[in-house]
Amino acid sequence: TSPAVTVTKLGGRIGARIDGVRLGPDLGEETVAAIRAALLEHKVIFFRNQRHLGDEGQLAFAQQLGQLTTAHPTVNTGSARVLSLAASKGMAANSWHTDVTFVDRIPAISVLRGVAIPAYGGTTNWANTVTAYAALPAPLKALVDNLWAVHTNDYDYAATSEKAELAGDRESVFTRQQFTRIPFRTEHPVVRVHPETGERALVLGHFVKSFVGLNTAESHALFQLLQNRVTKLENTIRWTWAEGDVAVWDNRATQHYAVADFDEQYREVRRITVAGDVPVSIGG
Ligand code: SIN
Repeated sequence: TSPAVTVTKLGGRIGARIDGVRLGPDLGEETVAAIRAALLEHKVIFFRNQRHLGDEGQLAFAQQLGQLTTAHPTVNTGSARVLSLAASKGMAANSWHTDVTFVDRIPAISVLRGVAIPAYGGTTNWANTVTAYAALPAPLKALVDNLWAVHTNDYDYAATSEKAELAGDRESVFTRQQFTRIPFRTEHPVVRVHPETGERALVLGHFVKSFVGLNTAESHALFQLLQNRVTKLENTIRWTWAEGDVAVWDNRATQHYAVADFDEQYREVRRITVAGDVPVSIGG
């Protein structure tokens, strides 16, 4: 570990706080390696007091973790790499998901910065999908090891903002005009082998439409059973944001849920995403 960087474990299965780093450009090889190692071990890491960052600083930091992707495949941000998630009522992220699993190359890492944080509510929770897999009983492992799931963007910001707009809610995360209504559909193994750690992780979350070879009712029942395992409270960490906090999560080993319990208060977080690979199944 770099002498400057201290890592404090926050939960039994997931989460650590990193102190001693002022995020920004040119952190140096040793510090970046220490951050990467903490991320791979703890799945989500948190930095306090990074108010100096701004979008440029956040970008400069994220670039040191890997190649960046576009902000979001269906949000019209042009070539911008920063996705602003702002809401004063409701959010699309208040269900358990891994970011953007409806594309072939699921993003590897997300970097989220707290910009405007409500006085209460609006926490974010993360779950460890590696420990969730490891804790499955043998018969369930045997079932999921060769299973594939269909992921679509039927439930993304476009869909939820369309519903919010039809319901007369003009303050939801995005308006319909901010979207390209491109339908995405892809299949991923339910168990992926992590490209850096070799760990096995469940690939599920709210973009899963069904499982290949199972009907809708069967898919729904199995999805609930597995998701209950992932989101069991002992398998999660909850973060109470302050302005200037930065959360970095391994999108190949986690799901997350932003809690929509902040009433009419304004909340804004900004996300930058690092590109990932096509998930590889246990069979290769
Ligand atoms: C997300 O990346 O899903 C948003 C998380 C949040 O708003 O806390």
